[in-house]
Formats: sequence, C-alpha cells, structure tokens
Amino acid sequence: MSNPRTLFAIAFAWMLTPIAAGGQASPPAAYRPGLGDLMTTTVQPRHLKVGLAGQEQNWPYVRYELHELEESLERVARQWPKWREVDIAGLVVGSTKEPMAAVDEAAKAGDNTRFTEAYGRLTAACNACHQSANVAMIVIQAPKGSPFTNQDFRPPRR
Ligand code: HEC
Repeated sequence: MSNPRTLFAIAFAWMLTPIAAGGQASPPAAYRPGLGDLMTTTVQPRHLKVGLAGQEQNWPYVRYELHELEESLERVARQWPKWREVDIAGLVVGSTKEPMAAVDEAAKAGDNTRFTEAYGRLTAACNACHQSANVAMIVIQAPKGSPFTNQDFRPPRR
C-alpha cells in the first residue's frame, strides 16, 4: 500500500466515483414544449404555408398542409387541454373546425375567392381564441411574402 503508484491509483479512482454515479442517474424528464412553443413551431408556420399556397392557387398542397395544421392543433389540444384556466381543447374545436372545413371546400373547388374568404375566417378564429385566452396582443394575419425561401409554393409544373 505504501507504493506511491498504488496510492495514486486509489485516489484517482475515488475522484472518478461521482462521475460514474452521475452516469447512472435517472434520465432527465421528457421535454414538454409549452403552448407558445407549439404555436410558434407547428401552428404558425402551417397557417402561413396554407396562406401562401392559396395565394399561388396550389390547391392540392393547400389541402395537404391544411390537414397538417389540423393535426398540429389536435396535438396542441392533447398536450394543453387547459392553459391558465382556459379550455384550449374546447376552443380549438369550437373556433377552428368550421373555417378549416370551409378552406378545404374552397381548395377542393379551386375557388380563389372562396379560399380568401374562408382563410380570413380561419385567421379570425386564431385571433378570437387569443382574445378569449387573454393574449390579444398576439395578432395573426394573412402572410405577405414567404420566410421559407427554400420552398416553392406554386403548383409544380409538369
Ligand atoms: C384554442 C385557442 C387558440 C387557438 C385556436 C389558436 N391559438 Fe395561438 N395561442 C393561444 C394561446 C393561449 C397562446 C399563448 C401561449 C403561451 O404564451 O404559452 C397562443 C400563442 C400563439 C403564438 C405565439 C406568439 C409568439 O409570438 O410567441 C402564435 C404565433 C400563435 N398562437 C399562432 C396561432 C395561429 C396562427 C392560430 C390559428 C391557426 C392560433 N394561434 C390559434 C391560443 C390559441
């Protein structure tokens, strides 16, 4: 034991013990994005893309992306059925279901005027919920130009 190399080895092993124990610690809690995180990362870009594709009259894509938006809102409702006493799950269905169906009908018919009207109502539904939830300072509008410069929203040419 008096061998200095042995003593050094014991001291070194002792120093490493907390690191080894840390490695065995329980994994961190699963990441749970906030309601505002989900709105910004999943709902807002899809609302925007539906609007841009509608302006380009790319109807198959409008219908595709509208469905994605619907799923995003469903996940929001599942993750945050209630937020600060606000009935998010109930409000999602109550406010967005009808205008989303109208946007889909307009896209199916390839009707530009009907699309613009229905998309305006969908956007108004976003804002109505923001008002009900006391976040009226969050104001959504139809997009003016694309931040997604790596995606072409026009109908593909064959
Ligand atoms: C059911 C109610 C509800 C609906 C419907 C809703 N929102 Fe929200 N939204 C909220 C609430 C509540 C917040 C604030 C969440 C927070 O601060 O964590 C929020 C936050 C946001 C934010 C984050 C603001 C920021 O700048 O950080 C964006 C963007 C947003 N919503 C976009 C939309 C869009 C686009 C739609 C419509 C397609 C929509 N929301 C529909 C309730 C709703």
